[in-house]
Amino acid sequence: KDMEEIDQNTTENGHRSHDEMVSLNDSTGENELEIPAMLERDNEKGIVYTVRAQKGKTEIFDGTETKTYGYNGAFLGPVLRLEKGDMVKIRTINELEENTTFHWHGLEVSADADGGPHNTLKPGEEKVIEFKVAQEASTLWFHPHPEGITAEQVYNGLAGLIYIEDDNSKNLGLPNDYGKNDIPLIFQDRNFDDKKQLNYNAAMNDDGTIGDTLLINGTLNPKLTVNKEKVRLRLLNGSNARNYTFKLNTGDSFVQISTDGGFLNEPVTLKEITLTPSERAEIVVDFSQLNTANDLALINEDESILLPFEVSDQSGEINKIPGEMNNFSITEEEKDLPVTKKVELFGMKDQVTINGKKFDPERIDFTQQQGVTEVWEIYNKPDMMGGMIHPFHIHGTQFKILSRDGEEPPENERGWKDSISIQPGERVKIAIQFKHKGVYMFHCHILEHEDNGMMGQLKVE
Ligand code: C2O
Ligand code: CU
Ligand code: CU
Repeated sequence: KDMEEIDQNTTENGHRSHDEMVSLNDSTGENELEIPAMLERDNEKGIVYTVRAQKGKTEIFDGTETKTYGYNGAFLGPVLRLEKGDMVKIRTINELEENTTFHWHGLEVSADADGGPHNTLKPGEEKVIEFKVAQEASTLWFHPHPEGITAEQVYNGLAGLIYIEDDNSKNLGLPNDYGKNDIPLIFQDRNFDDKKQLNYNAAMNDDGTIGDTLLINGTLNPKLTVNKEKVRLRLLNGSNARNYTFKLNTGDSFVQISTDGGFLNEPVTLKEITLTPSERAEIVVDFSQLNTANDLALINEDESILLPFEVSDQSGEINKIPGEMNNFSITEEEKDLPVTKKVELFGMKDQVTINGKKFDPERIDFTQQQGVTEVWEIYNKPDMMGGMIHPFHIHGTQFKILSRDGEEPPENERGWKDSISIQPGERVKIAIQFKHKGVYMFHCHILEHEDNGMMGQLKVE
């Protein structure tokens, strides 16, 4: 029985790619894309922001209420916009009837503020965290991280974006009119039952929940209306397990300007980009150059229509994409460092492990000195069936990809990363350093794999 199931999820080359097995709906474009609110600062003295995890009801389908979770609202969350150098205080409140945590994915903060499974808030509890924004402009995100129930909470709607801006990002002249030509796009696939409820079922989805219905920013059948101008799309794969390969339906190219943790040195022209769960990329699509006589849409690898565009007659802003955006580099010294940590990803379903072990909150898997760069080698060990892609993520820092199977990473990965896709059989080397002390998680960002124990702990001393 088990083998049969495995077979059905295995493609000819032996690589499991269950996301191909459940195809996504085509967006009809009947709803204008929801743009998340910007989180306002509090008036309350001393506390700058408040983020509460709560339950709610959302009209995803016309005339029906779906039970959802959200931050400061019924579904998903507002965008937390921070500036490099800011001292930030966030009052986090758990208004759910279950434990949760507030994890800031990609943010370089102390372990105490990181919101990993050790920072659990019980129902009704609150906690104020404080940190200084010490990293460059980037698009990060936040979501819960309670042990064993992360997947379900994210699935129900707990996710929001964090924008970090700095002098560089403000001076590059990139499109930055929020909601007009600077658009957040959170891609999440979901399954709804016949009552249009989410009804998360972990047991059914050991390898990650793959949905047949796409929501972008929580919008079903979204479309985006744009002017004839350059539009910056901040893509987040916020799905539990599905990978996306984004492209334009016309085959036109676009440019990628940023990775998870900052700008690329130069824009990279692409026809498609793949993001595995938790990865981000900012891309710029130039609607002033595209033939708008055609129907334009962002589509997935399998040609399913993710986001149709409606292009207005207005010309919009003239933004130039600068040729030079950042000064990211990999030093000779970093290239010469020996591998000091090895991570082996293995398995599928509830049999997933890292270095042969499952997560144990009492066990520290690695230690690393604060401020010291080390090279980690991450290997995705294939199994009898071939294996599957694991998106590997490390908390509390941004790292550099040194090589993929001994080769230089592709141009669009020569920038700061906090999550990387690793193919079955692939070996990836990264250079990584931590600015703060404490215990941080590293794990597969297929959320069901994480919940099934594909996670380890690193102690920075
Ligand atoms: Cu996006 Cu450990 O998390
Ligand atoms: Cu994280
Ligand atoms: Cu995995």
